[in-house]
Amino acid sequence: MAAAADSGGRPGGRVLAPFGRRRGAVADNALSGGYRLLTAFDREGPLPRAGQFYMLAGERGWGGGGERPFLPRAFSVADARPADDGVRLTFLLEDVGPGTAALARLGAGDGLLLTGPLGRPFSAPRELNAAAAGAILVGGGIGLAPLALLRRELAARGTPERSLLGFRDQRHSGGLELFRCSELRLASEDGHSGHRGYVTDLLAVMLEGDAAATAAVYACGPPAMLEAVRRLCAARGVAAELAMESPMACGYGACYGCAVPLRDGGYMRLCVDGPVVNADRIESALVVGTGHR
Ligand SMILES: Cc1cc2nc3c(=O)[nH]c(=O)nc-3n(C[C@H](O)[C@H](O)[C@H](O)COP(=O)(O)OP(=O)(O)OC[C@H]3O[C@@H](n4cnc5c(N)ncnc54)[C@H](O)[C@@H]3O)c2cc1C
Ligand code: FES
Repeated sequence: MAAAADSGGRPGGRVLAPFGRRRGAVADNALSGGYRLLTAFDREGPLPRAGQFYMLAGERGWGGGGERPFLPRAFSVADARPADDGVRLTFLLEDVGPGTAALARLGAGDGLLLTGPLGRPFSAPRELNAAAAGAILVGGGIGLAPLALLRRELAARGTPERSLLGFRDQRHSGGLELFRCSELRLASEDGHSGHRGYVTDLLAVMLEGDAAATAAVYACGPPAMLEAVRRLCAARGVAAELAMESPMACGYGACYGCAVPLRDGGYMRLCVDGPVVNADRIESALVVGTGHR
């Protein structure tokens, strides 16, 4: 497996994956609203950075007899803590197809095959905007996963952060326990919690006036939400990073399945040049065939 150099221009920010796929052990698999929190011990892997992801497959319930899922699936790491023996990783899953359904069926002690950490992590607020006074985290649905670990990293460094999370409806929401201790505002399209409407309504209010000059925005969510964040930030000159999704067959640069067009022409492979992308690098976050609904 290729341990790619950092082509995103960050000095040493990326944690490189050990070569090859390894076997982790599931510690817990619990419902969290409409999502699942899957926790596993990774005995041989390093501590990942927020924004990085793993390619996951279940040791059981995967492939065999020509059944899907066959390829591993990409998941952002939502929490990572050093443990007595390795690293304790937490993933937040939304059951949308055969891969996530198979992972949802794993129980304590089952094998979890993992490759990672992969990809570029989030930058520090001052790397995005030299005048940044803190960070604004904007999550949509299952997209809150990488922001949960980012929030913990920022808190550990004493960086002020405010989190804005939006959900379509109650069934498509969860993972809020990952945001304990955060200054948190919620939005929901069906009005079941917080502001009735889009999470970007909250962001627009937050970026009014002088706040824009000292903001650094980090967003992850469905393409339409990411595009709304990108436009809001571009219109106000606010620095932003977007954690994007695209179909990933390998996760480490070999298959070119994850190509995303760049503003200045050409493409990036989202698995090695992303998934965290400076919003200035893309013309639009609405890339055909990518992302959750
Ligand atoms: C970097 C990265 C990080 C990610 N992090 C997370 C995470 O933290 N949590 C999480 O739950 N997911 C995450 N994902 C998304 C997850 O990897 C995908 O949703 C994955 O494909 C799910 O696998 P599946 O087999 O369950 O569903 P799949 O069968 O792959 O289907 C996934 C989605 O695509 C739709 N779909 C499938 N086939 C088609 C088709 N032919 N035409 C149109 N739509 C189709 C399905 O309806 C479904 O909504 C991430 C993806 C990336 C790239
Ligand atoms: S997923 Fe294979 S090149 Fe990116």
